[in-house]
Amino acid sequence: MSEEARKDRLAPVVETVDAVREAVIAAKRRGLRVGFVPTMGALHAGHRSLIEAAKRECGFVITSIFVNPTQFAPHEDLAKYPRPLDADRRLCAAAGADLVFHPGVETIYPSGFSTFVTVEGLSNILEGKFRPTHFRGVTTVVCKLFQMVPADFAFFGQKDYQQQTIIRKMVAELNIPIRTRVCPTVREPDGLALSSRNVYLSHDERRSALALSRSLTLAHEYLAQGGSDFDLIRQRMWALLKETPLVEPDYATLVDPDTLEDVSTAVHTVVALVAARVGQTRLIDNDVIDLPG
Ligand code: PAJ
Repeated sequence: MSEEARKDRLAPVVETVDAVREAVIAAKRRGLRVGFVPTMGALHAGHRSLIEAAKRECGFVITSIFVNPTQFAPHEDLAKYPRPLDADRRLCAAAGADLVFHPGVETIYPSGFSTFVTVEGLSNILEGKFRPTHFRGVTTVVCKLFQMVPADFAFFGQKDYQQQTIIRKMVAELNIPIRTRVCPTVREPDGLALSSRNVYLSHDERRSALALSRSLTLAHEYLAQGGSDFDLIRQRMWALLKETPLVEPDYATLVDPDTLEDVSTAVHTVVALVAARVGQTRLIDNDVIDLPG
């Protein structure tokens, strides 16, 4: 196939649980490792990097595209969340995905559905404070997807740091036979973390949105130079966000990489986490920072 034809190719899609499960079983029978990349679509280079990472490690790669209603609160952007299926299938094919699983809402949540998976504690802090039912929706859908797509490896982005922490805890505690991999955050050249929600930003909001990655850089530089006043750096991160027009911070903090609790004393690694509304759009970002010494 020519390079052009490859670029235009749409990855094959299945919509039923039986079809996706059969594809996984058939790939395993052929001796292939199966990699799985769960997404909500509106795919960008961040998602692409996960699919490429999956393809490097696995002979057969499945991407799911499902805008999961249970992780959106009633006032959030479920209805307007972008759904460019053909473009997504094209990106999947170009990145090396062998199959797209694109179930309907009724496939995942048949009428009368009432079984939910919650990782207590971690789901209620940080993002969970601002989006109280969000992680219950995420863990429920990811747990279900892991049953439907019994892959060997699943790939997640560091971009959603709290999400991957919660999912890895769920996998461990429910003995789900899948190995998780976490891939680095892909950014625009100016530092803005790629997100499917960036398309909502106006020109001015796009410029202001840089405050998130800048506040992380500020923390990174301070800590790399041996700074250890964590409260001071939290205040500076918050102030940088607060002083930026159109930006309304929700939190800016330094936490333990596993417990996600605020760090106060010297540790090896901290995660700087920020969340802010930029106009009507809520954005998050983070940086994992190894402390000197
Ligand atoms: P979605 O936001 O589509 O993200 C799918 C995966 O892509 C997640 O693992 C996310 O961390 C990763 N990702 C997003 N932006 C990224 C970036 N800039 N660089 C690297 N990876 C990035 O996260 C979800 O969907 C959903 O909550 C889901 C897990 C699919 C459950 O519905």
